[in-house]
Amino acid sequence: MNSTFVVLAGLLVIGLTYSPAKAKLSKHPVVLVVSFDGFRYDYLNKTDTPNLKELQRQGITVPHMVSQFPSNTFPNHQSIATGLTPDTHGVVDNTVRDPLLGKNLSGFNDDWEFWNYSPDVLPFYIRNELAGDERYSGCYMWAGSSTPYGANNEYRPKFFVAYNGSIPWPDRVDTVISWMTDPVHPTNMVFLYYNEPDSAGHSYGTDDNRTIEIIKQSDDRAGVLFQKLKEAEIYDLINIVIVSDHGMQTVTRDMLINTTAMIDRSLYERYGSTPVYHILPKNASDTDRIYDAFKAASYTNHFSVYRKEQLTHLKYSQNRRIMPILLLADPGYGFENINPNPNYGVHGYDPNFRNMSALFIAAGPLFKKGYVSQLPVNNIDLVPLFAKIMNVKNVPTEGTLERVELLLNASAGHFVTVLLIVVAQVLSHVL
Ligand SMILES: *[C@@H]1O[C@H](CO)[C@@H](O)[C@H](O)[C@H]1NC(C)=O
Ligand SMILES: *[C@@H]1O[C@H](CO)[C@@H](O)[C@H](O)[C@H]1NC(C)=O
Ligand SMILES: *[C@@H]1O[C@H](CO)[C@@H](O)[C@H](O)[C@H]1NC(C)=O
Ligand SMILES: *[C@@H]1O[C@H](CO)[C@@H](O)[C@H](O)[C@H]1NC(C)=O
Ligand SMILES: *[C@@H]1O[C@H](CO)[C@@H](O)[C@H](O)[C@H]1NC(C)=O
Ligand SMILES: *[C@@H]1O[C@H](CO)[C@@H](O)[C@H](O)[C@H]1NC(C)=O
Ligand SMILES: *[C@@H]1O[C@H](CO)[C@@H](O)[C@H](O)[C@H]1NC(C)=O
Ligand SMILES: *[C@@H]1O[C@H](CO)[C@@H](O)[C@H](O)[C@H]1NC(C)=O
Repeated sequence: MNSTFVVLAGLLVIGLTYSPAKAKLSKHPVVLVVSFDGFRYDYLNKTDTPNLKELQRQGITVPHMVSQFPSNTFPNHQSIATGLTPDTHGVVDNTVRDPLLGKNLSGFNDDWEFWNYSPDVLPFYIRNELAGDERYSGCYMWAGSSTPYGANNEYRPKFFVAYNGSIPWPDRVDTVISWMTDPVHPTNMVFLYYNEPDSAGHSYGTDDNRTIEIIKQSDDRAGVLFQKLKEAEIYDLINIVIVSDHGMQTVTRDMLINTTAMIDRSLYERYGSTPVYHILPKNASDTDRIYDAFKAASYTNHFSVYRKEQLTHLKYSQNRRIMPILLLADPGYGFENINPNPNYGVHGYDPNFRNMSALFIAAGPLFKKGYVSQLPVNNIDLVPLFAKIMNVKNVPTEGTLERVELLLNASAGHFVTVLLIVVAQVLSHVL
């Protein structure tokens, strides 16, 4: 009698966990994260975007996703992957100076030291695999995923492809699907990157019809992805999370600020680009003088000047790679290093400026269906969300699960299975 009960409970669990169609995927829940670089939160409404809007209808709609400062590509992809602010993960801009290493480092060159800031900073695609039990990760052109992590450069995701803009989109999708359905190492956590509509937004600004054309093309690419997932019969089985890293703002010629003559240019080295300049005095004893000159100029120009220790409101004041002085253009303004001809698109501003806000859509078996949330998502909350879904413990993060947990369907498949296993174990002890 007692043993019959346990067997029945056990059979129920097996029945729910292994359906024939699911057999070819990981035994863990599967999450596919797709980043469309520079897809501003409201681009969905700029033109016809039927594929992304349909996904939204099937899953979650949020007002927007908040980025980290500076609202640039590499800092934010690393925040999405680590659940940490740039102040902590060390990718403080697209190019940085590391005073400890005495080197200039660039994400564009994929310098490994640029990404591997400290052994404590591990992207979730690494932590997922370290949790073991047949968890595998795949990263397709995802910023920071093709160089190693760890104290001895010992960690890489099971599958990765480094950036190569000439690989056709359908090929990228096929590869990602082959990872999720790999017979030996099926991935449960996949990150896929696409460089548009960022490039178009930069070249033409946010409202030019050529940018709008590329927004539409990005939606078409999402459509190709969904179609191929359906053909592989895994569309309904995986959780799809569509994100972007930041928004975009048009800057015109009349909005330029020329900082060159504000103080002797030979006194400092300058890193970064519009709208964030990082200022390193060549001689530390000139710091006050340089700061004072920029401060005086800022009263009659549209930018702010900060000392490193004054940037706590942007969570940007601790990291060794942050320079002693920072210049930040006001929203819509740019510095002399760009040439708007006649328009140019810019990001990097304070993430609280709404046009810097990013896209977030999620749908799949673990997410609520047709759920409209009034709360924005913060991109450092995604790692806590993934950790919860994958049941990966002890992941350090500056995000909070509380802000995103409401997007999950508490009574959906996997969570029910986990609950039943617990019930079965309790029963086997009791009976
Ligand atoms: C897009 O348009 C829909 C329908 O008009 C509206 O409800 C939604 O708030 C808009 N989204 C954004 C991000 O502007
Ligand atoms: C990039 O992809 C193209 C098309 O598949 C290929 O021909 C080329 O060799 C690749 N380049 C590098 C550097 O791998
Ligand atoms: C974009 O607009 C310009 C002028 O406003 C027009 O000449 C051009 O044909 C348009 N291009 C597209 C792709 O719609
Ligand atoms: C900025 O000002 C400097 C001189 O102060 C000048 O040489 C330079 O051409 C200006 N740059 C632009 C983009 O106007
Ligand atoms: C690092 O970059 C700064 C700013 O562009 C430049 O002044 C400096 O010479 C560079 N240092 C090295 C070692 O390349
Ligand atoms: C830095 O400035 C101080 C004060 O002007 C001067 O004494 C010192 O020689 C300078 N150091 C260098 C390396 O130029
Ligand atoms: C955001 O960008 C749009 C153009 O796409 C512009 O009309 C709007 O003024 C910008 N918002 C702010 C606050 O500058
Ligand atoms: C949650 O999942 C259950 C079981 O699949 C389903 O019946 C229910 O409609 C879902 N709820 C929401 C809000 O999506």
